[in-house]
Amino acid sequence: MLKKLERNAPCWCGSGKKYKQCHADFDEKILRFQMRGAEVPSRKLIKSKRDIEGIKKSAVINMACLDEVGKRIHAGMNTLEIDEIINEVTYGMGGIPADLNYQGFPKSVCTSINEEVCHGIPARDKVLKDGDIINVDCSTILDGYFSDSSRMFMIGEVSEEKQRLVRVTKECVEEGLKKVIPWTLMGEMSDAVHQHALKNGYSVVREIGGHGCGNAFHEDPWVSYVAEKDTGMLMVPGMVFTIEPMVNMGGDEIYEDKKNGWTIYTRDGKPSAQWEIEVLVTETGHEVLCW
Ligand code: MF3
Ligand code: CO
Repeated sequence: MLKKLERNAPCWCGSGKKYKQCHADFDEKILRFQMRGAEVPSRKLIKSKRDIEGIKKSAVINMACLDEVGKRIHAGMNTLEIDEIINEVTYGMGGIPADLNYQGFPKSVCTSINEEVCHGIPARDKVLKDGDIINVDCSTILDGYFSDSSRMFMIGEVSEEKQRLVRVTKECVEEGLKKVIPWTLMGEMSDAVHQHALKNGYSVVREIGGHGCGNAFHEDPWVSYVAEKDTGMLMVPGMVFTIEPMVNMGGDEIYEDKKNGWTIYTRDGKPSAQWEIEVLVTETGHEVLCW
C-alpha cells in the first residue's frame, strides 16, 4: 500500500515540487489498479530524471563494449580475449564491469556459445570456430548506475537453421518491446515474446528471466518470457527493466554446470540464442536505454 502524502508536502520523487503538482495523480492511478488486484511497482522502482540520465551514461559504455566486440570477434579467438576487450573498453571509459565478482562470478562478461544458454565463463581454452553462434552479455556500473544488454554474434559461415534462431530471437525481443505500454501488464510483453518463439517452432527458457535494472544490477520485478497475458506487474512510466529471452531451438529444459556453478546448457544439446535490451517505460510507450 502506498503511503498517503499531504498534498502540499514535497513529492516523494525528489523533484522539489508539491506532491499534488507532481506524483499525486500518478499514485491515485496506481492505487486504482492495485485495488483491482494488479501487482504494482513500489516507489523505489520508479526512476527519476537523474536516475535515467545516469543509466544512459552507463549504457554508453556498455554499448561501446559490445560494438568493440562486434568489430574484433572472429574464428580462432578465445573468449578470454572477449573478456579483455570488455575490461579495456569499460575501464578505459571510467566504468566498472558489473559481472565481475557478482555473486562470485569470476570474469567481466558472460560468453555463451551454441548450446550454452547463458552465464558462459570466458576462458583461454574456449576458442571460437567457424559456424558458432555466441551471446556476449555485458553489464556496466557508472556512478552507481547499471546498464545491461547482450547481443548475438555469428562466427564465419553459420548454418541456415542457426541464423534463423538468432534472427527470430531478436524478433522476439522486438515483439515484446511493442507491448511495453504504460498502464498495461507485463504479461502482455512476455506473451508476445513467447508466442513469436512458439510460432517459429522454438521454446523459451522458463527458469531464468529478466529483471528491473538501473539503481542496482537486478531489481524487482523478475521478468518471465513465458507468462500469461493477464499477469505480471503493471508497467508504469519510470520503470526500467530488461527484455532478454533465451530461445531454444529444441526443448526448454536446461541444466547447470556442476563444476563451475554458473553455465546453463540446453538439456538436448541444441543451440540457444539470447538478445537483451534495457527498456524505460515512458508516458507514451517506451525508450530503449541500452542494447
Ligand atoms: N548480465 C546477466 C543478466 O542479463 C547477468 C549475469 S550475472 C553474472 O542479467 F554473474 F553471470 F555475470
Ligand atoms: Co539482464
